[in-house]
Amino acid sequence: MVTMEKVVSLCKRRGFVFQGSEIYGGLANTWDYGPLGVELKNNIQQAWWKFFVKDRADVVGLDAAVLMNPKVWEASGHVANFNDAQVDCLQCKSRFRADHLIEDTLENVKVEGLSLTDLDKLIEQNKIKCPKCGQAKFTKTRVFNLLFKTNIGPLAADSDDVFLRGELAQSMFTNFKNVLNTSRKKLPFGIAQVGKAFRNEITPGNFIFRTLEFDLMEFEYFIPENEWEKHFDYWMTEMEKWLDTAGIDRSRTRIRQHSEDELSHYSKKTADIEFETPFGWKELYGLAYRTDFDLKNHMEKSGVDLTYMDPHTNEKFIPHVIEPTFGLSRSVLMVLLSAYHEEEVDGETRVVMKFKKNMAPYQIAVLPLVNKLNDAATEVWEKLRTSYSTDFDSSGSIGKRYRRHDEIGTPYCITLDYETIEKDQAVTVRDRDTMKQDRIKITQLDKYLKEKLSGA
Ligand code: GAP
Repeated sequence: MVTMEKVVSLCKRRGFVFQGSEIYGGLANTWDYGPLGVELKNNIQQAWWKFFVKDRADVVGLDAAVLMNPKVWEASGHVANFNDAQVDCLQCKSRFRADHLIEDTLENVKVEGLSLTDLDKLIEQNKIKCPKCGQAKFTKTRVFNLLFKTNIGPLAADSDDVFLRGELAQSMFTNFKNVLNTSRKKLPFGIAQVGKAFRNEITPGNFIFRTLEFDLMEFEYFIPENEWEKHFDYWMTEMEKWLDTAGIDRSRTRIRQHSEDELSHYSKKTADIEFETPFGWKELYGLAYRTDFDLKNHMEKSGVDLTYMDPHTNEKFIPHVIEPTFGLSRSVLMVLLSAYHEEEVDGETRVVMKFKKNMAPYQIAVLPLVNKLNDAATEVWEKLRTSYSTDFDSSGSIGKRYRRHDEIGTPYCITLDYETIEKDQAVTVRDRDTMKQDRIKITQLDKYLKEKLSGA
């Protein structure tokens, strides 16, 4: 399995992901997406939107404000329950999530549902050492709320505290009536959203896996209560199909159901799709049955009627909710890990990112063999660039350019040589995965590429 070091290094070297605020020494656990990273992330996001929203008649979109009335987060239970237990090392002051510290040190110990006192006992009795400095002296465990607080107004002292959203879901609930009335959808139907979420994580880390701000794609699917099991199973199957669409290696995924005491405060049943990363099996996506918890609480706290009337029976009820949720930043990481391949070619190691063709940052690169052919190559490039995602690359030897495009996962490299202009008006098209080369007339190029990339 590829190491994280190799993937992180490739991401930096080729412009996928950079350390945030790098020229100032960085800001821990913040990352910036570079020119190729943003293309990859956008491709995943757009494919997700097509798969779960555009191609369906029963899901509509929303793009809500990040800042919401603080009463939203009280009603949703996040102010009271969106917590992790933390401990600090008394020696080096490093901070840890108590559950991670225990589970990473003690084999086969699960801490879900344990009280703070029990967590303290486990740490003390097993003389668990600080992973950073090796001392076994910790503070007592304390509860820490994950919501990011900020304030509105110029003077912090006079202003109102607000939270950066910890999940997208709440604005789908607070807009339930608006969407229902304007879209005229009938149950079952979903509201989907893509955007930033923020969590004051105690132990962020593993590159873009767990960060303080991240991109999330999720939808709330509103249903009558008695249909929840059917919809839960259906959406799990759709989520698995999505893995193939995104190019996430299914053979490295598994489904894990949450135990009773691990469930979030709003959930009656949750199952995660986990991915086998170089740092262990980790949550990639989640599917939760949120019952009517959120709509019921918002109805109570806001006083606004959030019921639904069945048009056939005229029965009024609060819809229940199935929620498929997908970390977009985590998707980027798992797509990168799935795509990374090393192969021996002529005694050398070829690194090739085998992205699905529609996910690759560039689908096509145009490469003039020598600079004298730049004008002719530009003409070919101009013809292709409005229909495909393309790069024009004229610097370095052709071998180096092929290696670069293998490393950034460009499915097709088109090379112009002297024969192109002097003899056959044709170009060489090199396939990233097979390295096979075809000679194609420029007039036939668009048709050839369309066929190759269709259904990608
Ligand atoms: N609305 C439900 C919800 O937010 P969650 O399991 O807490 O559920 C959803 O988060 C998804 O967001 C996760 O499955 C994961 O992919 C991603 N995620 C959660 N915390 C993250 C973090 N700190 N950094 C990056 N991605 C994160």
